[in-house]
Amino acid sequence: MQILKTREALRTWRKSLPGPISVGFVPTMGALHAGHLKLITESRHHTEITVASIFVNPLQFGPKEDFTRYPRPFEEDCRLLEAAGTTVLFAPEKADFYQPDHTAYCDVAELDRYLCGASRPGHFRGVCTVVLKLLLLVAPTYAYFGQKDIQQALILKRMVRDLDVDTDLQVIETVREASGLALSSRNIYLSEGEKARAAKLWQGLTSAKAMFAAGERQSEKIKDAVRHAVNAAYPTRIDYIELVEPSRLSPTPEATANCVLALAVYFGKTRLIDNLIL
Ligand code: PAJ
Repeated sequence: MQILKTREALRTWRKSLPGPISVGFVPTMGALHAGHLKLITESRHHTEITVASIFVNPLQFGPKEDFTRYPRPFEEDCRLLEAAGTTVLFAPEKADFYQPDHTAYCDVAELDRYLCGASRPGHFRGVCTVVLKLLLLVAPTYAYFGQKDIQQALILKRMVRDLDVDTDLQVIETVREASGLALSSRNIYLSEGEKARAAKLWQGLTSAKAMFAAGERQSEKIKDAVRHAVNAAYPTRIDYIELVEPSRLSPTPEATANCVLALAVYFGKTRLIDNLIL
């Protein structure tokens, strides 16, 4: 695996590839787990060359969020990416990636109004800006994102569609622990007890899906069932439990198939998210 640390090196490498070759791209912030590696595996199945990136993007963290303490186990991440068959890792420094007087941003309106967009102002602007820059640099045929961050994936799909970015975005199912807990780089902040309690989030989502399958259509009742299960996990705080329709990501009073049931809760300072599609 080749490790490229500057945009210039990446550009030069990209230009050296023959035109028709298919390139898959998996952007990450590192602290890799089996969820990230599944995206690499998907890319390897469908493309000739797989590029991963590791960049803890300061633009997408709020002033009170965990940017400085975000885990950065770079050596271990390199080993995992290499073992998974990654061709090139792009791992730029902040000073190389953003000019000191950087002033251009990418916003996707509307879709960031609810869910994580409501509680993390500016977050998706930071995500869109970094991913657009990465897509321009890597110019991949396919880029792979996880359903775990479903609002991120849907916003990025809209960005690519509306701005004519010539990359096909693929959304890959969430990888979970045996308990059902969605894998996340932030799970390392949790104690064993908190992890066991956090598994109840997925139980809440799946029991609500069963209610929908049995005929329940009232959004409030479905969300109440999730809230009940989530409360039994004793989170420090519930940020949101929401049922949204998939095109605008706005709350809907009536559940239909394709609606997204999503939640965000805190265990101490650690914010966990999860979702499923009804
Ligand atoms: P990060 O949290 O490192 O996640 C990188 C990719 O892995 C994202 O597409 C995310 O949805 C996916 N992922 C995370 N946990 C997963 C799981 N349990 N199963 C499957 N996929 C999972 O998301 C980001 O980084 C950043 O916002 C980024 C897109 C890199 C922009 O900075």
